[in-house]
Amino acid sequence: MAFHAEELKNAFVADLEAVKSEAELAELWKKYLSKTGEVQKLMSGIKSVPNEEKKAYGQFVNEVKTWVQEQYDAKREEIEANALQQKYQDETIDVTVPVKIRPAGNLHPLTAVKQEMISVFAGMGFEIFEGPEIEDDDHNFTRLNVLKDHPSRDMQDTFWLTEDLLLRTHTSPGQIRVMDSKKPPIKVLVPGKVFRSDSDATHSPMFSQLEGLVVDKHITLCDLQGMLDSFVKKLFSDEVKTRLRPSYFPFTEPSVEVDVSCFKCGGKGCSLCKGTGWIEVLGGGIVNKKVLENCGIDSDEYSGLAFGIGIERIAMLKYGINHMGKLFENDVEFLKQFKA
Ligand code: PHE
Repeated sequence: MAFHAEELKNAFVADLEAVKSEAELAELWKKYLSKTGEVQKLMSGIKSVPNEEKKAYGQFVNEVKTWVQEQYDAKREEIEANALQQKYQDETIDVTVPVKIRPAGNLHPLTAVKQEMISVFAGMGFEIFEGPEIEDDDHNFTRLNVLKDHPSRDMQDTFWLTEDLLLRTHTSPGQIRVMDSKKPPIKVLVPGKVFRSDSDATHSPMFSQLEGLVVDKHITLCDLQGMLDSFVKKLFSDEVKTRLRPSYFPFTEPSVEVDVSCFKCGGKGCSLCKGTGWIEVLGGGIVNKKVLENCGIDSDEYSGLAFGIGIERIAMLKYGINHMGKLFENDVEFLKQFKA
């Protein structure tokens, strides 16, 4: 049924108002603006208009057509703008919604301390060497001048595997292996696990050491103290001082025990340093000439310094841990405290 122009306008306005979606808009277009739509039908009506009125009718119908098209376009813009607005709203991210925090791991305090210690020495030009955990008597004892039946063998309670093989009791056999494979100048670190039949609050049958060895011309005890002094300053604090005390190791002569001034009380005396103001941190000394000779190094031309540091001990001091076992239990709640 062809509308008369006024009826068409009224019907269009009513339909236009009802349009709420893009689908309804398409329906509206089909009903009014398509080839079979009402506007086209109105235009076809020109045939039945007397000739003298054709021009005016044509003009009028064209105006209606333009008007319908404009109304339609405006509606389309409105619907598209609404759709876009809706899309924005649907895709809005609420930045205030709490996120699920994924638990992330952290370095074990022993690993962290070991890496820190190594990086301080690496800054002084040390290389890393790693030896085997199963050693023979020769490397662990004899060539380090710990002779058979010598009482110094009892200094370390050894886990023997066979007559000759053992779990290394210290990282010092690394010194022999390095000097066997390298000529001076030598400047190496030997980190690794060591084993002794010993267990209490401050000892564990397995623990770790960091061995240091420097062999060159004119190496003296002063070099050892200077090196270790700057090491403890970097590791603990600039205020920390070192002192050497005479000690005994068969593979160093002279041998020293190195203490640091207590970094908790500053040397006044407290529970950490047991009232002495000093804390023992490592053993070391000048490499015994016999050990150099055992490795084919001329002890008149070269001298060396060596030291061995207990890594757990440093971690315990640094973090105030009172039982070494805590470092091996892998209690997650305990380890979480060391998140960097
Ligand atoms: N190996 C010794 C120990 O385990 C430490 C040490 C290393 C001492 C090097 C002197 C030189 O106790």
